[in-house]
Amino acid sequence: MKLTILGGGGFRVPLVYGALLADHGEGRVTEVVLHDLDDRRLRAVSRVLAEQAEGVPDAPVVSATTDLDEALRGAGFVFSAIRVGGLRGRAEDERIALAAGVLGQETVGAGGIAYGLRTVPVAVDIARRVARLAPDAWVINFTNPAGLVTEAMARHLGDRVIGICDSPVGLGRRIARVLGADPKHAFVDYVGLNHLGWVRALRVAGRDELPRLLGDPALLGSFEEGRLFGADWLRSLGAIPNEYLHYYYFNRETVRAYQRAERTRGAFLRDQQARFYAEAADPGVSALRAWDRTRAEREATYMAENRESAGAGEREEEDLSGGYEKVALALMRAIARDERATLILNVRNRSTLHVLDADAVVEVPCLVDAGGAHPLAADPLPGHATGLVCAVKDVERQVLSAAESGSRATAVKAFALHPLVDSVNIARRLVEEYAAAHPGLGYLK
Ligand code: G6P
Ligand code: MN
Repeated sequence: MKLTILGGGGFRVPLVYGALLADHGEGRVTEVVLHDLDDRRLRAVSRVLAEQAEGVPDAPVVSATTDLDEALRGAGFVFSAIRVGGLRGRAEDERIALAAGVLGQETVGAGGIAYGLRTVPVAVDIARRVARLAPDAWVINFTNPAGLVTEAMARHLGDRVIGICDSPVGLGRRIARVLGADPKHAFVDYVGLNHLGWVRALRVAGRDELPRLLGDPALLGSFEEGRLFGADWLRSLGAIPNEYLHYYYFNRETVRAYQRAERTRGAFLRDQQARFYAEAADPGVSALRAWDRTRAEREATYMAENRESAGAGEREEEDLSGGYEKVALALMRAIARDERATLILNVRNRSTLHVLDADAVVEVPCLVDAGGAHPLAADPLPGHATGLVCAVKDVERQVLSAAESGSRATAVKAFALHPLVDSVNIARRLVEEYAAAHPGLGYLK
C-alpha cells in the first residue's frame, strides 16, 4: 500500500511515520512518498524518518519528490497536509487581523478566511490531479481550514475526500476520562463544523453521562475545556464546546490578550521551525533529536498558553490529546481493512443537519468501513449553535466562490459576514492588506 503525503516536508510528518512504524497488521502502508515544494524541508524530514526507522525491519520505505503528479500516481491513500504561504503566511494572517482589531488566529475568523482564500485554489488543483492520476485513492485532508478545504476538494472528489481534526477526538477523550468511562466504549455526540462544534451527550451503554458532568462543578473544573469556559457557562449551554469556541464566547478578551502578546503563535512557530530546519541540514546533528526537542518545546508552549487562557490548573500528564496521526491511522485502517469504526470526521452533510444542504461539509460522528465514512443521524442543534453554524458555512461558501471567480467583492463579503468581523469597513481593509501581504492572493481582482 502506497501512502503519499502532501506537505511531506512538514514538521508533523514524523508523527505520522511513527504511527505507521507501530502498525504491523495486514494491509498496512509499505511505501511512503513525501511530496513538498521545498527540497530542503524534504531532506530534513527524510533524515528524521530514516533515524526513526532504524532497527524496525518492516519499516515502510520512504522516498521524496517535488513532482506532484509523480507523487500521486499509484497512491492508495493521499494525506494532504499542506500550508500554503508557510508559517510566514500564518503569522501575517494573525498580525494583520489583530492590527485591525479583530481576532488573529490560524483557522478562526479573519485569519482563517485569509488562509482559506489562498489555500482553496491549491487544494482544488490537487483534487483535480488526484481525480485524474489516482482516481481510486482516498484523500485524507488535514489541510486547514479543514472543513472548508475538504468541501472544496469534495466538489472534485466526492466522498473520496475525508477531512480530519484531532480536536473533537481529544475533547471526547478528556470528557470520558473525567467521567470514568473508557473512551473506546463511549459514543460522543458531537456536531458542528470543523473547529465549531459541541459535545451534547456522551453515551456509555446507551446512557447519557454528560448531565452528571454538567451537574458537578468539581468535575467541570478538572479538565481543560471545563476550566476554559467555566462551569457556569457550560451549564447554561448544556453542552461542552470545542476549545475553538472560546474565540466566539470570549472574543473580546482573547483579541486583547493576543494583541498584547509579544508575538503570535504563528510567529513563534515560524521562528522555531526555521531553527529546526537549519539544524537538521547539518550532517553532524541527529535530525531526530533536533526534531524531538523542537516538538517538546512546541507542546510545552501550547500547554502554557492554554493554562494562561484558562486561568489556572495543570494539564494532565497522560496523553489526552486526539493525536492527529492516530485519527488518520484509525481512519485509514477502517477503510483499508474494512474494520468498522466510529470516528468524528469532516464529510458531506447529506441529511445529517437539516438546516444545511447535502454538499455542505460538516464535522460529525461517522461509521467508517471499506465504503468510506457515512455520517450518523444527529439531533438538530439548538438555535444559537444553528445560527453560528449557518453563518460560518455561508462565509465558507463566499470563500469558495471568491476563489473560483477571483472576485474581490466576494472576498470582502466573506470577511464582512463573519460573526467575528464587526464592520464592512474592516472587511475591506482586511482584503486590501491581505492581498498586499500574500502573493497567493494575487488572483483577487
Ligand atoms: C490543533 C488543531 C489544528 C491546528 C493546531 C494548531 O491540533 O486541531 O487544526 O492546526 O491545533 O496547533 P499549533 O501548534 O500549530 O498552534
Ligand atoms: Mn483541527
